[in-house]
Amino acid sequence: MFASTTSLLKKAQKGKYAVAHFNINNMEIVQAVVSAASKLRAPIILATSEGALKYAGMEYLFSLAKTAAEQTKVPVAFHLDHGRDLEIIQKAINMRYSSVMFDGSHLQFEKNVQVTKKIVKMAHAKGVSVEAELGTIGGAEDLVFARKIIYTNPEKAKEFVERTGCDVLAVAIGTSHGAYKFKGKANLQLEILEQIRKKVSVPLVLHGASGVPKNVVKTAEKYGADLSGVKGVPDSQIKKAIKLGITKINTDTDLRLAFDAGVRQFIKNKPKDFDPRHILGPAREMIRKVAEERIKLFGSVRKA
Ligand code: G3H
Ligand code: 13P
Ligand code: ZN
Repeated sequence: MFASTTSLLKKAQKGKYAVAHFNINNMEIVQAVVSAASKLRAPIILATSEGALKYAGMEYLFSLAKTAAEQTKVPVAFHLDHGRDLEIIQKAINMRYSSVMFDGSHLQFEKNVQVTKKIVKMAHAKGVSVEAELGTIGGAEDLVFARKIIYTNPEKAKEFVERTGCDVLAVAIGTSHGAYKFKGKANLQLEILEQIRKKVSVPLVLHGASGVPKNVVKTAEKYGADLSGVKGVPDSQIKKAIKLGITKINTDTDLRLAFDAGVRQFIKNKPKDFDPRHILGPAREMIRKVAEERIKLFGSVRKA
């Protein structure tokens, strides 16, 4: 069933667990993550980046998510991830996404406040909630790029939430998008998170949170991938972040790695088989397993 993002996150805040946000780009990913959530009876957020919409089409991804939501008993929210294009954000609001993210992290504080406030007004008029971002999460994705991590300032976070009226806040505490998150030791700024939590009461989001699981990386590498230097956020740090108040955790990279490993393994082992269903089926299964591990780590099993 379709659910509101805010209701899922408020419940998670009270229950001290985090809801899994998974980025979706095609049917196999949708099926894999929803099947994992259904099996574990966990709430789930399906998210589309602007890059995903460009690749698959907004209506296609919305229909896939709607079909998946209708076929499962667990609550499924539909979210626009890293919205920067105001036209896309408006369209998502009109289509009744459960929530939209406005990513104004590249803007000066005052400008970020101004635009976020405008989007909150537009979204709330249609019952859609808004995630905003303060500080910058590093790393490069398709259409979102930030070279440098700028940690969220707790005092500014308080002012930002009060002035914009956003429902959910993405914080920058040292994570980055993609598979290369840390050069040396993985280190999240948990003291900053603690300070933010003390000053801000809306649900907090951790982006760039993939764990880059070793078994998946090993399989992908065994069948030809070059993934030297990859490093994710350790499970222990995710658990601490949830304890300190993170209630939504975004995962994309781990799903991509699982997809890659599954496709590579099949193609290498079955060079004569060119049936797309045979090629994508094992990849879908690998994504499902990874999604299950994430949901278990976030403590959201049987929270549907
Ligand atoms: O946070 C970004 C997500 O991983 C989406 O990446 O823009 O390449 O689809 P993308
Ligand atoms: P990862 O690249 O760590 O999976 O982060 C995804 C994300 O933050 C999507 O918004
Ligand atoms: Zn992100």
